[in-house]
Amino acid sequence: MKVLLTGGAGYIGSHTCVELLNQGFEAVIADDFSNSKPEAVKRITEITGKNVDLYPIDICGKVALTKLFEEQKIDAVIHFAGFKAVGESCQKPLMYYRNNLDATLTLLEVMKEFNVNKIVFSSSATVYGENNPIPYVETMPITGCTNPYGWTKLMIEQILKDTANADPDLSAVLLRYFNPIGAHPSGRIGEDPSGIPNNLLPYVAKVATGKLPKLGIFGDDYDTVDGTGVRDYIHVVDLARGHVAALQYADTHKGVEAINLGSGKGHSVLEVVNTFTRVNNIPVPYEIKPRRAGDLPEFYANAEKAKELLGWEVEYTLEDMCRDLWNWQSNNPDGY
Ligand code: WQD
Repeated sequence: MKVLLTGGAGYIGSHTCVELLNQGFEAVIADDFSNSKPEAVKRITEITGKNVDLYPIDICGKVALTKLFEEQKIDAVIHFAGFKAVGESCQKPLMYYRNNLDATLTLLEVMKEFNVNKIVFSSSATVYGENNPIPYVETMPITGCTNPYGWTKLMIEQILKDTANADPDLSAVLLRYFNPIGAHPSGRIGEDPSGIPNNLLPYVAKVATGKLPKLGIFGDDYDTVDGTGVRDYIHVVDLARGHVAALQYADTHKGVEAINLGSGKGHSVLEVVNTFTRVNNIPVPYEIKPRRAGDLPEFYANAEKAKELLGWEVEYTLEDMCRDLWNWQSNNPDGY
């Protein structure tokens, strides 16, 4: 099976590409490198010993995307491509709606023209909004998000549901990620955010390498185990393997399924920081700062559906995530 990974040079995409190749799939990457580097694709080949056809294109461009489908016999798509910074989406909502929705609509139109009817979509736990109880379950009402980034994910889920309802041949799996962290154990691919990281672990890694002076912990007065925010962290390789399982599911089922990809366990910011220090024997200086607008105190997944439907569950521990993150960051202090 030949799989197109849109945004496949990115953090999750590159790790998924490695797992696909390791499991005997063929992979094609379309990436405009707006938030990734071509080096990542070279390293995918280095890790797997297999080549990947790379198209350095913006998939909003229908002509370029059509050319890819003309040249490649694509059997299925994993759709990662999209802007994903929550804060930036609040400052530039139009850019987020235009890019994330256009990319998806163009992709679905071209898939239809070439009779490609299997898609796995990179969605997010953000779609659960701020009113659902924890742990999040896929059957919960999805009533709205707290930021434009989350809304684009919610809208794309709806586009896929409506498209599948109109086209009985379409199979779509909507993977709702929780908090992916860590890196491939080889240390050759990992998360490489541009600028100052928004997310916790890339920021911790920059402090550990001395690139940033200290971590700001956004609030220690939440009603949680130790007052700091609690999240469901999942190793990026576990997440990647979840995509392969979802693809295999889409190959044998029709319709649309939303599935959580999380560990089902929550860890606080302080637990994560202390684990990173303990596992890697590296201090991470921090200071308590005011809460970050839009943050929820705590959320984590009910991971049962992925286990039942995909036969998938996490294998790596928080210690593994912290160890593999440091192995990547210490060997690639400036990223790719
Ligand atoms: C985790 C915890 C912060 C940074 C976001 C998106 C979500 C998904 C994952 C794309 C929180 C705390 C963080 C820092 C801190 N992205 N924190 N200091 O906000 O749970 O989820 O990224 O799909 O859609 O919303 O992740 O890593 O930013 O924060 O104290 O410098 O770490 O308050 O409790 P988040 P995060």
